[in-house]
Amino acid sequence: YTRSSSEARVAWMLLLLCSCTLLLRAHGGGSRKLYITYLGDVRHGHPDDVVASHHDMLGTLLQSKEESVASMVYHYKHGFSGFAAMLTQDQATRLAEFPEVISVKPSRRVRTTTTRSWDFLGLNYQSSHTPASELLQMSNFGEDVIIGVVDTGIWPESRSFSDVGYGPVPARWKGECQTGPDWGINNCSRKIIGARFYTAGVPDEYLKRDSLSPRDHYSHGTHCASTAAGSAVGVDGEEASFHGLAAGVARGGAPRARIAVYKSIFAGYGDSATVLAAIDDAIHDGVDVLSLSLTVPYENSYGALHAVQKGITVVYSAGNDGPRPQTVEDTSPWVLTVAASKIDRSFPTVITLGNKQQMVGQSLYYQVKNINSSSHTASNFTNCVPRHEILHQIDVKGAILVCLNDNDAINPSDDFHHAAKYVVEGGGSGLIFAQYTTDTLSSTVAYCPGIACVIVDIYISRRICQYAFDSSSPTAKIEPTRTVMSKDVLASKVASFSSRGPSADYPAFIKPDVAAPGANILAAVGDSYVTKSGTSMAAPHAAGVAALLKALHPDWSPAAIKSAIVTTAHVTDGHGMPILAEGLPRKVADPFDYGGGNINPCGAAHPGLIYDIDPHDYNKFFQCANVKEGISAIASCNTTSMPEYNLNLPSISVPDFRSAITVSRTVTNVGELHSVYHVVVQSPTGVKMEVFPDVLVFDAANKVRKFEVKLSPIWNFQGGYTFGSITWQNDRQVVRIPVATRITIQDFYADVA
Ligand SMILES: *[C@@H]1O[C@H](CO)[C@@H](O)[C@H](O)[C@H]1NC(C)=O
Ligand SMILES: *[C@@H]1O[C@H](CO)[C@@H](O)[C@H](O)[C@H]1NC(C)=O
Ligand SMILES: *[C@@H]1O[C@H](CO)[C@@H](O)[C@H](O)[C@H]1NC(C)=O
Ligand SMILES: *[C@@H]1O[C@H](CO)[C@@H](O)[C@H](O)[C@H]1NC(C)=O
Repeated sequence: YTRSSSEARVAWMLLLLCSCTLLLRAHGGGSRKLYITYLGDVRHGHPDDVVASHHDMLGTLLQSKEESVASMVYHYKHGFSGFAAMLTQDQATRLAEFPEVISVKPSRRVRTTTTRSWDFLGLNYQSSHTPASELLQMSNFGEDVIIGVVDTGIWPESRSFSDVGYGPVPARWKGECQTGPDWGINNCSRKIIGARFYTAGVPDEYLKRDSLSPRDHYSHGTHCASTAAGSAVGVDGEEASFHGLAAGVARGGAPRARIAVYKSIFAGYGDSATVLAAIDDAIHDGVDVLSLSLTVPYENSYGALHAVQKGITVVYSAGNDGPRPQTVEDTSPWVLTVAASKIDRSFPTVITLGNKQQMVGQSLYYQVKNINSSSHTASNFTNCVPRHEILHQIDVKGAILVCLNDNDAINPSDDFHHAAKYVVEGGGSGLIFAQYTTDTLSSTVAYCPGIACVIVDIYISRRICQYAFDSSSPTAKIEPTRTVMSKDVLASKVASFSSRGPSADYPAFIKPDVAAPGANILAAVGDSYVTKSGTSMAAPHAAGVAALLKALHPDWSPAAIKSAIVTTAHVTDGHGMPILAEGLPRKVADPFDYGGGNINPCGAAHPGLIYDIDPHDYNKFFQCANVKEGISAIASCNTTSMPEYNLNLPSISVPDFRSAITVSRTVTNVGELHSVYHVVVQSPTGVKMEVFPDVLVFDAANKVRKFEVKLSPIWNFQGGYTFGSITWQNDRQVVRIPVATRITIQDFYADVA
């Protein structure tokens, strides 16, 4: 009976396979797609031999050397071995069966997701009256460090990339300066020391709308590169600003670091094959830090792992899909995943109603020639739901439109942009857009070219509505925005758009790792300066800090650099207030919002203790089965894997907590030789957390110390996550790691929040 049932199953599976094949045939003879084949470490000496081995393999599959050459799109041959090729699904399935092959996965689309921000972080640049911060001076402003930026390219004429005063390009650099129609060899310099671009596999429709060169026509890469490593602009002479707002010295976190450009995104299109090609070349070229303001499907986690194993710190943006939980991307434990926070700058914009009442919203409205702000009138607006069918009945000519955000709006920023477009096209002069203070829009300041647009909260919108009802001809005046900084503004909130943990790919680790400024960041775009918001802006802040740490401590591993950044991060702001996370409702931030906290560059320079990881240890923690499934495809796997919570990360997460467990960690003293640290334990709610020993003594003979953390559930309940921390401290240092636990009793019940 058993036998016949399994026979039936086999027959059924064959039928399914056949009908799938037939279906594919019917849709164009087995259409071909770009697949990435991953083969692990490079096993041949010369890259040419690696290429030959790829063609041998693909030639065997396709039974033709010519077809192999014709199908090949990229060879990965420096940092790791693999290739991207056009294959049918059937060919991909058969290729995955080759013994040398670790995984074959379709290439997936990737998404791209500063003046004031650096002073806010305590990294003051020198001026006539204040010296540069110690970290900047000690690290020589990052001059010997090379930051690779994988993005939309760069605008070399920007003042942020001036190489005046730079020493020669570091001798170890092995990169290239690829030229194109609008990119000459002289576009590379002592600042932009390398530039490559990756067009293979990118559909023509996108290539047509971009330059086939490293030049950036989409501004994202230029903005990010200048945030990470832009030369100081405005120290003497003209300040960088956006039409006078956010004025100040614009510069990168590591203002003298060298930039290597890897353009992998063309007119908004990039995929995992192009990004992997960039990472492979960056490993070859010798970058120290890789900054990726992209969200990439998990295929790239092995690319980043090989980079980390070559000593490169890899920094990714966490994504802009917050505040929903489980949206954080690029979460492999070997990379630094960066959330976005808001800095202490706000852009208040005064609205004066016809009855002289004044109220304040937020915008980036500046005086445009063809707008006379003092003559705006408010239009009828009571039913302005920013949906097209309602909007198109309203005449906005010469008027300010007042819109209440729809409570059910899936994406308020779409509605906002829709309403702004309607006002611009209808000849209106302004938009006042009301929304709950915790909505997505409150993290991004409104800027609508040509009109005045201001975001207000619901309370203010009610007052405006009341006035409009009572008045026969309501009018309003919108004044140009002022920039307000520092003490007047409540700082440090995780931005609502910033993606939140836990990670869907790696639930056993706390992600994101840290938060960095990512809202309304002023940086280079073309020849000018523009503010942008997103975790895309946060990642290069962290990459700049990583570069300074690398300059200061050249022997630190990527794990040590990450540990220094995470353990010193701030969980309270300058006034001692806990850092908040925007969302519905706003709340005190937890590790799934900001990991260790808000980045603190000066603290990270002297972390006291570090949680280091030998980069080859990562291999021990991932089972071979996972590798085949592509969940964590890594070079060499070990069937005797260890529990993931024992990976020596600067955080502890136990997502599946059933009974008492003991977690171990090792800390290395990088501070004063003779130091004593005492532990401060903050247990997650419902969990008893004990640390043994509770004192660590370091001296010349004992630089590395191990400790154990015993976690026991107190309550036997099925719960969500609760959070705590373990802090080693003495009178000079505070070394804090976050802890997250979730007690699980029944497998079928899940609560991620
Ligand atoms: C970059 O190269 C282009 C084309 O060769 C040239 O017109 C432009 O002046 C160069 N820019 C810089 C900053 O060298
Ligand atoms: C702007 O408005 C003021 C006050 O209504 C008026 O005096 C001035 O002439 C206007 N300017 C322009 C350029 O329309
Ligand atoms: C508002 O609507 C009323 C009636 O439809 C109209 O008379 C009035 O002029 C409108 N006001 C504005 C400011 O458009
Ligand atoms: C697998 O891991 C165990 C424990 O760390 C180690 O003893 C063993 O040598 C490893 N095997 C391989 C093939 O790496």
